Order: sequence, then C-alpha cells, then structure tokens
Amino acid sequence: MTAQAEARRDPTRGVGPSGARAEPPIPASAGVGLKPAHYRDILEARPPVGWFEVHPENYMGAGGPPHRYLEAVRERYPLSLHGVGLSIGGAQPLDTAHLERLAALVRRYQPGLFSEHLAWSTHTTGFLNDLLPLPYNESTLAHVARHVSQVQECLGRTMLLENPATYLRFQDSSIAETEFLEELASRTGCGLLLDVNNAYVSAVNHGFDAADYLDRFPMEFVQEIHVAGHVRRLDDLDQPLLIDSHDTPVPDPVWILLERALKQCGPQPVLVEWDSDIPEWAVLMGQAERAQHTLERCHPAAYRHHANAC
Ligand SMILES: [Fe+2]
Repeated sequence: MTAQAEARRDPTRGVGPSGARAEPPIPASAGVGLKPAHYRDILEARPPVGWFEVHPENYMGAGGPPHRYLEAVRERYPLSLHGVGLSIGGAQPLDTAHLERLAALVRRYQPGLFSEHLAWSTHTTGFLNDLLPLPYNESTLAHVARHVSQVQECLGRTMLLENPATYLRFQDSSIAETEFLEELASRTGCGLLLDVNNAYVSAVNHGFDAADYLDRFPMEFVQEIHVAGHVRRLDDLDQPLLIDSHDTPVPDPVWILLERALKQCGPQPVLVEWDSDIPEWAVLMGQAERAQHTLERCHPAAYRHHANAC
C-alpha cells in the first residue's frame, strides 16, 4: 500500500486524545456509500477508502448488528450522514420525531458532514418512496430556507443540500435551480452537495446542457460531490429518459462532468453512490479508485505531499 493510500485510511482519525470521539472532517478524497453486504470486507481488509457515507434512516433503530458494524467502521474511518427522509422541500411542517431521531444519530456518531436533498417525499401521513421535485419560486425558497434553518438549529450544525435528479418541471418555477440553491446557501449558511450524476440525468431529461449547469452552479458553497450510475430508457415520445437508479458503474459522461466540477470547485470529498444491485466490494472499490485518480489528476499539487511521503 502506498503512503498516499495509508494516509487516507489512517485509523487514528476520529479518536481524540483521551479516546473520546472527535468529529473528523470528511477528507477531500474518494468515499463510498456503506452497505451491509460489504461490512465484513471493509472491517477485515481495511481498504484504503477515504471515508464512508450512510443513510441515517437505516440506523434509526436502537441497537443490534447495524449499529455494531457502523460503530466499528466509524472507529476506523470518517463518516458522513446522508438523509433521504426529512422531506425538507415538503409543504407540511418537518416531522419533529424524525428530526429528533436524526439528532440522536448525529450526537452518537459525530459525522463529518450531514446532507439532505432539495426534494420532498411526504404528504400528510403518506410516505412516498421517491425524492420529488418542487417549484422554484420565492414562496418555496422562503419555505425551504425555514426548514433548513430549523434542521441546522436542531442538529446544532450546518448541513449540505443536494441538487436533485428530476423528471418534470413546474410551470410556476421562476428561479433557476442553481440560483435557488445559491440563495438557499446564502440565506441559511448551509453548504451544497453537488451530485454530478443528478445534474446529467436532469440535463438529458429536460434537454439542457449539463456542462452549462455546472458552470452556473455556485461552486463556492460546494463541500461534497456525488457520482453514481443511472439507466437509460425511452419516454412515451421515444425521447431519452434517464432514471437516477444508482445500480450501475458511473458512466463516462458523469466522469467527464466530475472533472469539470473539480476543476471549478477545487479538491472535494467525492462519494461513489451505489444503492441497488449492490456489486462485489472489489467493483465498488474500483469505482472509488477511479474517483481518487480523477481528484489527483485535476489537482496534482494538492496530493503531491502524500506522494512525497512514499
Ligand atoms: Fe446523490
């Protein structure tokens, strides 16, 4: 293993001088979404991954094997929490019970980052198994900003908000998504999570240029990047329709967009998301290595000190 790889998997990170857990920042290196299918591979082989990310909703039970494994991973790697259930763009008030469960997880695991989606997924008492888009206008901007501030106040920390993959747009949207996100970050102090796969999926589905979207994205607020795979379908008019499925390797157009984004926002934590049809660990590790190489190719000076330490 190279010194560079060793530095990324430094097992002492996250443990304070007295053994008390600190809150290690998420490094500007490649991370991977943690899945139960890979717990043993990771704990036995200690692969040179910079950090892991989990959906907090999968760890809201009190104990049992999920927490045992997550505790063990958290002792060895920085951890990020990436929520999917807050429905922060929903019209109704936030679910305070869900928020409390989230706050308890944040206190327990002290993650380096917490992020959620600019989307909604609940209506009255119904839970929808999807992240749905919202109209971008002054009214929803003020509403989502209040929700973001409420979350940050409850958690006692800033959060990141992620650009969504979308399949439809609203006639009463009057603000570009990139401006909407920029204004949210400015008003609330939150950071942004740039998902370049989501940008590509939305661009193909709506017929705009993904590179242009990135050029307009408020990169000064970006603190994390996602890459993932998608599937290609045809809609009822035989036009291309991309589904943000997270069940394939990251396709070439997304790798190209990652390079473009990294050159604009500097070295950032880059997460490989893979949430369905989970592959063997070696396949996921290969994707993480490609993300790490992309980071190093875009910003050689930022990683040179690791190489010099060889
Ligand atoms: Fe994402």
